[in-house]
Amino acid sequence: MKHSNVTFIGLGQMGAALVPPFISAGVKATVWNRSPAKAEPLVAQGAVAATSFVEAIKASDLIIVCLADYDTSNALFQQDEITLLLKGKTVVQFTTGDARQAQASAQWAAEIGVQYLDGAIMDYPTQVGLPECMLLLSGPEAVWNSCSEEMKLLGGRMTYVGAKAGSANVLDGCLLTMYYGNTFALMQAAAMLQAEKLDIKDLGTALGAFKPVIDSTCARTISAIDRNDFSGNEASIQVHKLGVQSLLGRAKGAGVESRLLQLFTDFVEKTAANGREADELTSVYTLFKP
Ligand SMILES: NC(=O)c1ccc[n+]([C@@H]2O[C@H](COP(=O)([O-])OP(=O)(O)OC[C@H]3O[C@@H](n4cnc5c(N)ncnc54)[C@H](OP(=O)(O)O)[C@@H]3O)[C@@H](O)[C@H]2O)c1
Repeated sequence: MKHSNVTFIGLGQMGAALVPPFISAGVKATVWNRSPAKAEPLVAQGAVAATSFVEAIKASDLIIVCLADYDTSNALFQQDEITLLLKGKTVVQFTTGDARQAQASAQWAAEIGVQYLDGAIMDYPTQVGLPECMLLLSGPEAVWNSCSEEMKLLGGRMTYVGAKAGSANVLDGCLLTMYYGNTFALMQAAAMLQAEKLDIKDLGTALGAFKPVIDSTCARTISAIDRNDFSGNEASIQVHKLGVQSLLGRAKGAGVESRLLQLFTDFVEKTAANGREADELTSVYTLFKP
């Protein structure tokens, strides 16, 4: 590994989880948190607690940041005294923000001679460091190459997604949109199942068998959007319109929350009304398109 010293700024629930994989790999981990008590469990594992933010920045050439938000991070980092200390160092930002904030940070870093990557952690703290843990990073490829080995300590699915600083953030937003969509749909499904006094575990079993259909629909939708071609011979919008209307009727009949299915129905009906009755379900995308 190119970096034997790494500094961690922010030891909240996620920030603290980023440290142990580095300690286990034999890296000297210097940690700093506004509330110093959160450093104690990490010190017990072998980390070194910096007595000040300045000392933490001085301690390593690779600095990993995980704070509540960009305002907090900018207030700490974008001070003249710190800017001088940072020159030539690498900062990896895992604080959640939006793509504009990521790009503004990248620009600030470029102006003061700091190597900068911006990232997103796509899992919970307990998963950090495991082979299945997914993280995203973007920024100059040379910077990624200079610390990729260290970054991969954080999860087996650490993924570099390109030179634009905001790319990791945009993809994070896309994947989280999928995450919420799936989870909300699951709650709708569970309510319909339990209203009929069926066992929730049956849904888990059925879902396992149905998953290939969901996966292939995702792949077909991405391909259709990429080609801007929503035609096909599988199932027309007309058929899907009857499908979602039927689901809506079933939810209402069961007496459960039905606004999500009402929304699905509205989208499909609007797509059909726009003259796309013969297209595939993917043509609903025409309502979302920028
Ligand atoms: N938890 C997750 O599952 C998860 C998953 C993916 C991404 N993330 C992202 O990771 C980041 C941190 O999340 P978290 O779960 O660790 O949150 P958290 O437990 O609430 O920790 C927030 C961190 O920000 C620090 N902080 C807040 N205001 C500050 C200030 N004015 N000055 C200095 N430090 C300040 C806190 O310091 P104190 O301890 O002194 O309050 C703490 O270190 C967020 O951007 C979050 O979106 C979290």
